[in-house]
Amino acid sequence: MLEKLGLLHQQAAAELDSAVTSDALAAWKTRYIGQKGEVTLIMRGIGSLTPAERPAFGQRANEVRQALEAAFDLREGAIRDAELAKSLEEGGIDVTLPGRKAGVGGLHPSTRTLRRFYDIWAEMGFQVYRSRDVETDDMNFTLLNFPPHHPAREMQDTFYTGDKDVILRTHTSAGQIRAMRELGGDGSKPIRVVLPGMCYRHEQITNRSEAQFHQVEGIAIGRNIKMSDLKGTVAEFARKMYSPTAAVRYRASYFPFTEPSMEIDIECFLCGGKGCSVCKHSGWLEIAGSGMIHPTVLRNGGYDPREWSGFAFGMGPERITMLKHSVTDIRNYWANDTRFLEQF
Ligand code: PHE
Repeated sequence: MLEKLGLLHQQAAAELDSAVTSDALAAWKTRYIGQKGEVTLIMRGIGSLTPAERPAFGQRANEVRQALEAAFDLREGAIRDAELAKSLEEGGIDVTLPGRKAGVGGLHPSTRTLRRFYDIWAEMGFQVYRSRDVETDDMNFTLLNFPPHHPAREMQDTFYTGDKDVILRTHTSAGQIRAMRELGGDGSKPIRVVLPGMCYRHEQITNRSEAQFHQVEGIAIGRNIKMSDLKGTVAEFARKMYSPTAAVRYRASYFPFTEPSMEIDIECFLCGGKGCSVCKHSGWLEIAGSGMIHPTVLRNGGYDPREWSGFAFGMGPERITMLKHSVTDIRNYWANDTRFLEQF
């Protein structure tokens, strides 16, 4: 028996040395040291020995088993290393590649622009008033002096809900009446507010027009507010925001809720007014619609137009940021493509 055990040890050790794959190794384990392996079986044969022979055989058998197990562990480690090295060599993993960087968040370009707006307007004493995106037809149109069925409503392609009086605001002017009623103390207090927010129009989406965009509205109401206040205030803003030396010009225009009304342009800050592709060779960029608040609108907001007057303006920050950074497609703003967003 002892002799047989010795031969088995030699045979197993030799075979282990020639096992070069993990499959071969597993087969070896089953064959020799597994539950039904040859070493296990020969150990069970101890019962056929005389009591005197048993201790020596038992001790020897345990030694052989332990030796084979230790050799197996060593061999297993070596084969695992060899197989990993081989897979690395075959290009399974390139351990020299740099790791993936965790992305860092940042503010959306529109958010940055809006925050800059708030800072400048705050310096001039304007507080931020947040009105609502979902509005009534009254707030968006009727109380702003758009009579029902008036063609001016069609200038702003409206998104309607199932309820025909509930719409998505088409301009931030929709918050004018709310701000007056909420902050004006029943027409007894002057107010200066800016109303930022998303506006929605049912437009054909192209590289130049989107169905949603920001506006920043401003209104100032007081006992003696004049057109010159509007001009001076917006010109001051434009210089702080876009270019300290730029000229500002005013063009007559029409809005139902202001009278008189005007568009405000700033000298093109890219070409200095000489004319370029951005300003379409006019030398000017349009920055706001504006005007003196219409008496009917003041009255709807709770003010007596014989004593109170005010101005209003509305700007679209995305368009100007586009010009400034030569962005040619407005759809980038809401496409959530980080390759675009990371550039700001
Ligand atoms: N609400 C107007 C628009 O969307 C802009 C505007 C605001 C004009 C305030 C005059 C006064 O075009």
